[in-house]
Amino acid sequence: MKGKGRLLLILSVITVLVITFSQCMDSEPKLTATETTRAGAATCKQCHQKVYDNYLHDTHSITSRPVKDDDIVKGDTPISDFYPFTEHLKVAVEKRKDGMYQVAYFDGEEGMARRFDIALGSGKNVYTYGSWTGKILYQLPLSYLRVANNWVNSPKFPKDRPYYSQLIEPRCFECHSSNLEYTATQSGGLSTGLKMEEKSLIYGIDCERCHGSAGQHVEFHIKNPEEKQSKYMVLYKSLTRKQKIDACAVCHSGNSQHKLQPTFSYKPGEDLSNYYLPGNPAYEATEPDVHGNQVHLMEKSQCFIQSKTMDCGTCHSPHESKKEGLTVYSKKCISCHATISHSEKTLANAMVKTNCIDCHMPLQPSQLISFQQAAQKDVTPYMLHNHRIAVY
Ligand code: HEC
Ligand code: HEC
Ligand code: HEC
Ligand code: HEC
Ligand code: HEC
Ligand code: HEC
Ligand code: HEC
Repeated sequence: MKGKGRLLLILSVITVLVITFSQCMDSEPKLTATETTRAGAATCKQCHQKVYDNYLHDTHSITSRPVKDDDIVKGDTPISDFYPFTEHLKVAVEKRKDGMYQVAYFDGEEGMARRFDIALGSGKNVYTYGSWTGKILYQLPLSYLRVANNWVNSPKFPKDRPYYSQLIEPRCFECHSSNLEYTATQSGGLSTGLKMEEKSLIYGIDCERCHGSAGQHVEFHIKNPEEKQSKYMVLYKSLTRKQKIDACAVCHSGNSQHKLQPTFSYKPGEDLSNYYLPGNPAYEATEPDVHGNQVHLMEKSQCFIQSKTMDCGTCHSPHESKKEGLTVYSKKCISCHATISHSEKTLANAMVKTNCIDCHMPLQPSQLISFQQAAQKDVTPYMLHNHRIAVY
């Protein structure tokens, strides 16, 4: 290549470089967040203040939390600070120098003692508690039952003695938290347990548990404050009815399905059959329990089958556990049932105009959970509204 040609080449290379470089300078810097980057609920507040404020009162946000000092029952003082199993054997709730404990006593002599570390449940009905021993979380023998305002023997625990060996497994956190990392330990090919990383635990069900990781959404909208159209976020409106229900079914379709992988990574819009094996005959054959299985019950209702539009959002708003009562829910029924052919006998009931719920979604006891109170022969049932809407 001669002198002139080479100069031209160098010049053109420089031009290309300058253009490329200046384009780089002009355009947006590359986004660094990826599809799985979490932003954390606190970052949503600046742009979604109202949703955020409502959400703080929603039971989802407080369905698990670390227990700090003597803050174990939130807003109540239990009538007793111990639970007697027998004349000789009791478990006392005690304050010690590093927190609150459940301590077993046999004729006044101290036995096993474990600290309250985690509360599971929003406490609407009940709290149950976990205590760390290394990477293992044990369920404490006593739970707190709000209707009794007192300590009860934890569900399904032996009746005659305090039981300290029940594990709280990661599965509980798949429905009661937003993230948990854990590893299965093995010895000689046999499973020896699950080790949970306490630091990875994100308490409560947060925004991104229901909406998917929002790192890219937050990054984009902070850099483009003038953009009013949501970017990098699944739009609920664009989902099918099945997809909308699946977003709740991750946690509201019971616990007896065949699970394929942990549900923490599920995003709305995704196919739930990647997580739960569909068509499990044992599961389909049994009548769903009222506890934790609103999806399957609702799907058995004629309202669901024949309306073709009913989903969870027909009656529930996702960010507020509304305490408006059954009259407000009944208005949702009336919005589809303007005329009803009730018999004379039914019409004689005073609540027929204002409370459809107690007749058509009656409160029923869970068969899976109930509570043993001290010195009582009968157990206290866990009552829930049956989501199979029907004539009972
Ligand atoms: C810098 C501002 C900003 C931040 C921070 C932000 N968003 Fe948004 N978001 C927007 C804007 C703008 C829209 C579109 C207008 C609207 O719907 O409010 C939007 C819309 C949404 C929507 C509605 C999508 C639809 O159905 O239309 C969801 C859900 C959402 N954001 C979730 C989140 C979550 C979760 C977080 C926190 C992890 C978050 N956003 C943080 C700006 C932000
Ligand atoms: C229990 C699941 C759940 C949680 C937790 C949740 N959302 Fe939502 N969110 C939904 C659903 C479902 C919708 C769609 C509602 C509809 O369109 O009827 C929605 C809608 C929205 C919208 C658009 C409509 C509106 O109300 O403005 C925004 C914005 C939003 N969510 C932000 C958030 C933020 C921020 C948080 C956390 C502070 C959060 N969400 C927590 C389920 C949830
Ligand atoms: C990650 C799991 C999870 C997802 C996803 C989820 N929920 Fe829940 N939901 C729970 C748990 C756990 C509770 C019990 C909270 C408590 O009281 O401790 C609950 C409670 C509720 C309640 C009762 C609130 C009250 O105060 O009585 C309603 C209603 C509800 N969920 C509706 C929905 C709807 C609708 C969706 C889908 C948009 C949804 N949930 C998605 C786990 C989930
Ligand atoms: C498949 C999802 C799922 C799993 C797994 C799950 N739960 Fe729940 N849990 C729920 C839902 C949904 C509710 C609330 C409504 C209901 O009972 O239907 C609930 C309610 C509760 C409550 C009562 C909350 C209140 O304030 O009334 C406690 C306590 C609780 N669960 C503890 C646990 C423990 C401990 C485990 C593990 C052994 C566990 N849950 C496993 C979904 C689940
Ligand atoms: C989205 C519309 C819609 C909503 C909301 C709705 N329903 Fe229905 N419901 C229907 C349709 C459609 C049918 C089937 C046709 C019929 O029987 O009217 C039905 C059927 C029924 C039946 C007869 C059931 C049977 O097995 O024969 C009862 C009872 C009923 N609904 C009560 C209620 C109550 C109570 C509520 C509120 C908790 C409610 N519905 C909410 C649409 C709805
Ligand atoms: C036709 C209206 C309607 C629909 C649709 C509906 N619910 Fe409900 N739900 C109610 C009523 C009414 C209650 C009782 C509220 C109360 O006691 O304050 C309730 C209570 C709940 C509770 C509290 C525990 C219980 O069972 O009593 C949960 C959890 C819940 N619903 C989840 C869901 C989920 C998930 C879906 C979708 C699969 C859904 N609901 C669909 C009306 C409805
Ligand atoms: C006292 C209990 C009771 C109350 C309250 C009640 N129902 Fe009914 N409902 C019944 C019974 C029982 C039947 C079966 C027919 C009969 O004997 O009246 C029925 C039948 C129905 C049907 C099926 C018949 C038809 O017209 O398609 C619907 C729909 C219905 N009710 C909706 C409602 C709605 C909506 C409300 C609230 C505004 C309500 N019910 C309040 C007991 C009740």
